[in-house]
Amino acid sequence: MPNAAPIRSEAPQARSAPDLPRGAQAGTPEGIEALIAAMTLEEKAGQLTIMPAALAPSLANAANPEAISGTPSQQEQAVREGRLGGVFNGDSADWHRRMQHVAVHESRLGIPLLFAADVIHGFRTIFPVPLAEAAAFDPELARRTARAAAEEATAVGLAWNFAPMVDVSRDARWGRGVEGAGEDVLLGSLLAAARVEGFQGARLDDADAMLATPKHLAAYGAAAGGLDYAGADVSERTLREVYFPPFQSAFGAGALSTMAAFNDVAGVPCHANSWLMKDVLRGEWDFEGFVVSDYTGDFELIAHGLAEDERDAARLAFAGGVDMSMSSALYARFLPDLVRAGEVDEAEVDASVRRVLKLKAALGLFEDPFNRLAPARTEKGHAPTHRELAREAARKSLVLLKNEGGLLPLARSAKIALIGPFAAGHDHLNGPWVLFGDPRQATSVEDGLRAAMADPQALTVAAGCAAEAEIAGGIDEAVSAARAADVVVLVVGEGERMSGEAQSRLDIGLPEPQRALVEAVRAVGKPTVLILKCGRAMTLDPASEASKALLVAWFLGVETGGALADVLFGDHAPSGRLPVSFPRHVAQSPFHYDRKITGRPPLSLQHGEEFKARYRESLNLSAWPFGHGLTYGDVAYADLDAGAGRMAWDGSLEVAATITNRGAREAEELVQLYIHDRAASVTRPIRQLKGFKRVTLAPGASERVAFTLTRADLTFVGPDLTWIAEPGRFTVWIAPSAETGVEGEFELLKP
Ligand code: GLC
Repeated sequence: MPNAAPIRSEAPQARSAPDLPRGAQAGTPEGIEALIAAMTLEEKAGQLTIMPAALAPSLANAANPEAISGTPSQQEQAVREGRLGGVFNGDSADWHRRMQHVAVHESRLGIPLLFAADVIHGFRTIFPVPLAEAAAFDPELARRTARAAAEEATAVGLAWNFAPMVDVSRDARWGRGVEGAGEDVLLGSLLAAARVEGFQGARLDDADAMLATPKHLAAYGAAAGGLDYAGADVSERTLREVYFPPFQSAFGAGALSTMAAFNDVAGVPCHANSWLMKDVLRGEWDFEGFVVSDYTGDFELIAHGLAEDERDAARLAFAGGVDMSMSSALYARFLPDLVRAGEVDEAEVDASVRRVLKLKAALGLFEDPFNRLAPARTEKGHAPTHRELAREAARKSLVLLKNEGGLLPLARSAKIALIGPFAAGHDHLNGPWVLFGDPRQATSVEDGLRAAMADPQALTVAAGCAAEAEIAGGIDEAVSAARAADVVVLVVGEGERMSGEAQSRLDIGLPEPQRALVEAVRAVGKPTVLILKCGRAMTLDPASEASKALLVAWFLGVETGGALADVLFGDHAPSGRLPVSFPRHVAQSPFHYDRKITGRPPLSLQHGEEFKARYRESLNLSAWPFGHGLTYGDVAYADLDAGAGRMAWDGSLEVAATITNRGAREAEELVQLYIHDRAASVTRPIRQLKGFKRVTLAPGASERVAFTLTRADLTFVGPDLTWIAEPGRFTVWIAPSAETGVEGEFELLKP
């Protein structure tokens, strides 16, 4: 870690600034120029420095190890001397008010501070983790939960959110997929924009607006081996087709900051990658916001083997387009000297400072530095309606993989054995990136079920084992509970510290103690519902897989128990769909539905085909495909109609199919549209999601569901690395998942 010395004053006494603009005037373009002209190099470097808040909750410090924050008074002194432009992951409104007062009234220039935080899926009210929420395939829901999170977080003065995480994630070994929207580019792009809109609200200078930060630029999810922080050796075509679009969508929605990724891309660390941060981000995308380092990502250029020392790391990061340094203090310590030595152009420093000051103005902080810190707003805390929203989001995040014999929904009168390390208690319900919520506020699985049962005493709870350890006598207790029950509900999977940052796994199955528990309980032979809590796609052992019902519950947040009860007892039908493919084996990683077909695809699902793209042990297929999810209905797809089967070069094509609910209950179905480009000048994915619609069907009802395709849906990054379309034949599906559906074809005609 960088030298932990807090930022000290070493500069010559700055000139006094009585004639400089203050308040709103300082935030005008003229005011900003006047400030920049008056600033010392140290003050400029201070505006490009953000540090972990010296006053922060313990969970926040746990998320940012070795945080360099000094004491609150040391940080106040750094602010007083203009050496610090913001702090992050604090949640004390009082201390934020104190710090803002020091910045505005006790520093030479009176520039307000930025208070930032990682508000990934809720602040006090914790919503489902982003990967869970992605299973709802509902951008409007994502916008709503982000908006609620911003309302709560801004009430303690936070104006900048290090979210949404928009990294496409295709490798279940990587632990940070939990924070994103899964493996698909379209879904990821739609959710990125929705979350930005939710965090930022109507106007950035509203008191409840948070500046959004689509992160981590770029290809963080392509870490080699699924190993967090490892390099992403991806082609420029893959960057442009897969990893860039969610960022472009987020910027299109108005995001004005972004965060560099820890990894290198094809050998060049993102924190020193001027092609990425200048040529692409600013040159191609006209991005006018600012780039912040990810934590000590600038300092880490030494470990990457690019920088000789801390001073060199500061130089390379700044030259690479990182405007602001987080946590390392390298800019505060070295930027002035680098400018004086002529190694960094002061005009470039001014440009970065200008971006930061413009955003402080856009957030209304010059106009009213305390606009988010009004005492009345702090008391508001989190509205009861946010819990209702959390329960709705949690319900919609549940994915029913299997429901043999219609075991679900359960009768409220049933005698239930609730077994597993996550059956009771408040731990492991919120997920790995929760810094400000109180886990004790969450409704446990046990509490949720008891509250919904006819006789709460008809529920017996047995942990059986811990998340990753045995409990003496635990299995015996669980087996006897199963014997005495009509139905078993097993709650197994990952603890909340088993995914998230630096939590890459070699084995994405259940930890051994849980496998043994499932095996023993399943041997009792009672009908079993297996609820899988996880922050990633997982592989299931045969005993787990054989459960009559399988429900993926991710990390659902504060309303875990209530949402599970709503669905298990049938008040609401499950409607979630997998935003990530569940592979058959971890060795298939990275595994995703939109993979390339290869020159030797297996021609059938029969085993034994020689010399085909398959493993000895298995075809390269999923255990559960992207887009899969059952409801309590029985839904059939038929009669795909692609009209004349031709799309004019500048025309469109309507594709439709008939969806029928053959079940006895109302069904909510996510109808998905996929295409495959059969012949193009570069290889194309087996399938690509191009649209989805949610339909609700009464028992016995049918509906013709139609989508309209245009040439824009058929583009790809061609040989010259630009987006193109090519005439030719396409296969099209309307489907309930990426591996099924009704199929047709059409042709894109020449211009
Ligand atoms: C972490 C994460 C990043 C987060 C930052 C500040 O290391 O990579 O997503 O925003 O540090 O907490």
